Amino acid sequence: MADERAIGIFDSGLGGLTVAKEIIRRLPQENIVYFGDTGRVPYGTKSRDTIRKYACQDERFLLEQNVKLIVAACGTVSSVAADTGEGLPVDFVEVVSHSVSAAVKATKNGKIGVLGTAATVRSGAHKKQILQQLPSATVVENAATLFVSLVEEGWYTADDPVVLETVRRYVEPMQAAGVDTLILGCTHFPVLSEAIARVMGKDVTLINMGAATAEVIAKMLEEKDMLNTASSQKHRFFVSDKADSFCKTASVLLGEKIDENLVETVHVDAL
Ligand code: DGL
Repeated sequence: MADERAIGIFDSGLGGLTVAKEIIRRLPQENIVYFGDTGRVPYGTKSRDTIRKYACQDERFLLEQNVKLIVAACGTVSSVAADTGEGLPVDFVEVVSHSVSAAVKATKNGKIGVLGTAATVRSGAHKKQILQQLPSATVVENAATLFVSLVEEGWYTADDPVVLETVRRYVEPMQAAGVDTLILGCTHFPVLSEAIARVMGKDVTLINMGAATAEVIAKMLEEKDMLNTASSQKHRFFVSDKADSFCKTASVLLGEKIDENLVETVHVDAL
């Protein structure tokens, strides 16, 4: 039986559209409801308590949209507030554990790098989970704080010297340690994949958390007989603030043009 309810995806802002992009690519027959908390972004520089409070409100908003599954696309939320998804009336999927499993599967030398926001790296969530699965692993983490600003500024191409130099500085410790696998543990980082790959070299596997998570969601919906088999799809996008640069940034992150008229502004701070 077709479950036509949408997959709910939330993020601190527009970055989670990179995860939405992978879910849409893997499950083109599914409807998506996306909420980006653009009025309160960034989460990555905020305290654990604030991130948890925001995550709970984001989840409540998606529940009100009658979704069948909630995805925390945000690396920061998934690292410090994944337990806010426990006990929800629908399944909850975060992006850290699936990226970790993909990295552990991909590594040959057991040396894994993790790039994320300051809050993500401070939480140590990736390292803890990697070591649970592969106790002999070497894990090198670094907070690539400027990456989010670079992408939002539209500076992400692999031939931009500013981009390449910034990437170089953040991945230096990973290169020094000889990692062969690098988790892009933040929503915006896949946009910099080409530049990161150019600096790291072709022998290093980059883990895209959206792609890893989309695979798990596909399996989960299939096993639970919750796939949407209806033929017409309708995605809905909500944000908590619509800045002038909204369309440009959103289109870069989603990889396709978003019609601004289809994006609704909502307030979730009272939920
Ligand atoms: N979405 C956030 C993440 O993946 C990045 C932006 C922010 O700091 O809120 O960690």
